[in-house]
Amino acid sequence: MNRLVFPGSFDPPTLGHQDLIRRASKLCDELIAAVLVNGNKRSIFTVEERLSMLRLMTQDLPNVKVLSFDGLLVDFLHKTQAAAVIRGLRKSADYEYEAEMAVINRRLDPSCETLFLQAKPELAHISSSLVRELAGFGRAYDAFVPAECLPVLEEGFKRNRTARS
Ligand code: PNS
Repeated sequence: MNRLVFPGSFDPPTLGHQDLIRRASKLCDELIAAVLVNGNKRSIFTVEERLSMLRLMTQDLPNVKVLSFDGLLVDFLHKTQAAAVIRGLRKSADYEYEAEMAVINRRLDPSCETLFLQAKPELAHISSSLVRELAGFGRAYDAFVPAECLPVLEEGFKRNRTARS
């Protein structure tokens, strides 16, 4: 089975992620959307919330599996017997960071391949940080996220506002 891994923080998942997952799922037998558990970044949404949002927004894609992973991505690839990592590129600056990560992953495991998918121009401005920022200022963010995720997003942002006040 030809399996790919689409890893990320997904804090929160966006319409950009949804489009990349949809397109990547057509390139393999199985696509694993993998949520990083213990990243360096402090996240707004719990791992369970992020898994739940990813499952809701990919429920019409039968070959997409949603899992979490802890530790090194190369170890997760090995464990799931995936052929490659797939990452999205939104803008040229993304490439700098992504190319570095691909090189590090290959050094950690010479069999680790990284594939890049270019974001659609109409979605390239959408990022998790944009959604977090808009929500932080109390502005509408629903045009940037899958509609299925809205209840979980509203709940998580509300909890975050309460915790900060
Ligand atoms: O959505 P993000 O935050 O850009 O995703 C980054 C992610 C999760 C793909 C990356 O941080 C990652 O793979 N972390 C796992 C640890 C790891 O393998 N790091 C690379 C070598 S130190």
